[in-house]
Amino acid sequence: MRTLAHLSDLHFGRHDPTIASALLESLNVSRPHLVVISGDLTQRARRSQFLAARKFLDQIQAPKLIVPGNHDIPLFNAVGRLVAPFSNFSRYISRSVAGHQLFSDDEVAALGLNTVRRLNWKNGRVSERQLAEMEAQFRLLPEHVWKVLVTHHPIALVEGARKFSRAQRANAALIASLRCGVHLVLSGHSHHAVSGIVDDELAAEGSLLVVHAGTAISTRTRWGGENSYNLIAVEPPHLSVTIMEWSAHAGFREGPRKRFVFDAAQWQLDS
Ligand SMILES: [Fe+2]
Ligand SMILES: [Fe+2]
Repeated sequence: MRTLAHLSDLHFGRHDPTIASALLESLNVSRPHLVVISGDLTQRARRSQFLAARKFLDQIQAPKLIVPGNHDIPLFNAVGRLVAPFSNFSRYISRSVAGHQLFSDDEVAALGLNTVRRLNWKNGRVSERQLAEMEAQFRLLPEHVWKVLVTHHPIALVEGARKFSRAQRANAALIASLRCGVHLVLSGHSHHAVSGIVDDELAAEGSLLVVHAGTAISTRTRWGGENSYNLIAVEPPHLSVTIMEWSAHAGFREGPRKRFVFDAAQWQLDS
């Protein structure tokens, strides 16, 4: 059994320090095997904001897999964005922005893809090369290891849930994911916590579980949602996603939980 904490859209520079402290406390209690952070660590990619993010990350004991978000490259400094968009991210957060990052053990493998582009930073994009690399990495792993793809910009939508824009070439990314045995796709950017089975546009290609995260600690909550992160328990053939919701009087506590089962290569809700 493996537990993944899925955090996103911290937006240091426009964050609530009280909620940030409570999040660290909550992670110390839940003690996940891996902390996934699906981008937008800062509000404006400033050095001071990256330093605050770094200080926060250093207080998390678990291994971390982190991808950048569109807010992690300069917005107003066009020269900086075009010449060296990831300089602060690489310096303070992670050097693996150019390619991909992989965490794997004998039960779970998670791979992060950078979807942020200097000319199309808001919508994001996935390249052919990234997909080829993902397939090569995941094909090396045994079938029983559950495979997780992490991006900032969503590449998949949840059946029956709110719709929002996806990264360019998202369908190609989903088809490649299915080809190499990905079970689960995690993303941020929407600031909307929801999980479920991939919408029916790609149902004929195969079955994927899709998890979007809310904003963990920023004041940029959307659609009336609270600050939250996802706690994902992987115990094949079962998987559960619990939204850990913030409240001022109780800190982060267990909110709605969904249970799923992966049977005969199909995801289903597990009642
Ligand atoms: Fe964001
Ligand atoms: Fe974003």
